[in-house]
Amino acid sequence: MTVTQQMHHPDLNLLMDILPEESEVSDTGELSIGGVPVGELARQYGTPAYIMDETGLRRQIRRFVQGMKSRRPNSEVLFASKSLPCVAMYAIAQAEGLSVDVAGGGELMMALTAGVNPGNIYLHGNAKSDAEIQMALAAGIRAIIVDNFNDLDRLEAMATKKQHVLLRMIPGITPATHASQVTGGNDSKFGLPPADITRAIERIARHPLLYFEGIHVHIGSQVLETEPFAQAVKSVAEFGSFDTYDVGGGLGVKYTYDEIAPSVEDYLDTLTEAAARLLPAEARLIIEPGRSLVARAGITLYSVNTVKTTGKTFVAVNGGMADNIDIALTGQRYEAVMASKIGAEPTVVADVVGRQCESGDLMCADVPLADPQVGDLVAMPATGAYAYTLANNYNGACKPPVIFCANGSSTLAVARETYEDLLRTQQPALQRRW
Ligand SMILES: Cc1ncc(COP(=O)(O)O)c(C=O)c1O
Repeated sequence: MTVTQQMHHPDLNLLMDILPEESEVSDTGELSIGGVPVGELARQYGTPAYIMDETGLRRQIRRFVQGMKSRRPNSEVLFASKSLPCVAMYAIAQAEGLSVDVAGGGELMMALTAGVNPGNIYLHGNAKSDAEIQMALAAGIRAIIVDNFNDLDRLEAMATKKQHVLLRMIPGITPATHASQVTGGNDSKFGLPPADITRAIERIARHPLLYFEGIHVHIGSQVLETEPFAQAVKSVAEFGSFDTYDVGGGLGVKYTYDEIAPSVEDYLDTLTEAAARLLPAEARLIIEPGRSLVARAGITLYSVNTVKTTGKTFVAVNGGMADNIDIALTGQRYEAVMASKIGAEPTVVADVVGRQCESGDLMCADVPLADPQVGDLVAMPATGAYAYTLANNYNGACKPPVIFCANGSSTLAVARETYEDLLRTQQPALQRRW
């Protein structure tokens, strides 16, 4: 393909479909999120920065919460908080009527700090420690999802008052998604094989303080069809009659102009129709969306640090795989736009790359860009899920801040890490030995 063939900028409607719902583009082509222009956000908080559209996020939460309640009154939507674990987000989840699932002690601590009612918290994990089980028991959380017999050993030994548990079963379903995002295949490290479930249920039933509520499955993430979710319902239904069936999360989202994702409504229709057909009428149905709740509400805002042409043209931004490792980890593709020049005629087709020392730190290939200059702002849409939470310190990067925007004002939810933060855990004593 020649440069001129590639050099078209996407239709504004295509872009608006992957930007947060409360996005606007000014007459001069400047993007704003929740009514706050990106230039203002960059001046106030610096870049890179994770910017969240709080209004769009709350609207999406309501689509799930109200959508589930209207289709199946005896149901519960848990925010899979691994997708965006920060105190501000836990507080929003609680205020909007979501329960939360936590994947370990750290997330549990943040949820409790945010004021989430312990009665709305569920604990997951395939390698829970004694300390984490103890924390969960002491907090009096709603349920612990038992993943294996060692979890059961610990619970049997440590429970001092009544504790509800669910059992995670391997459903043997492998939806079409990236291999690292399939969790429900027969050789999964998560959960117990179906053949072990009856034995686990019997053990729980024998314990005076443990109460067996039902079965949990999670088939994978970024699943772009609805049918596997009906299969997930079938896999738990086949196991018998319980109080609760938790079919996990996994609904995929639209990251790129050409990607097609099911709507929340289609997903809920498929799930609840399968549940109406296959589950006991009075049973509670739980889902655990993460990505599909928060991904679209977020963008990452970068500044251009370098523009250069070698065999191809590169626009290098001041972030990369340290703040969005999903691209390298799962092969997820994203789009990138010049955030203050939207709609301007492209002058170059370039690879937008990060600043980390890996050739795999390619953020977006062959992007038509309007005259990219050092200091220009670049926005990467649909980064509200699994970007902040997977951020790391590779090459000494400081994790970017998280900022929530609504109705023209912005609030800092997580501060930018500093070099002092990086040094805080380093031990100078060791340096002296060398
Ligand atoms: C047990 C469990 N529930 C829910 C989720 C959320 O998945 P997603 O963000 O794809 O909705 C995950 C993610 O891996 C998970 O492991």
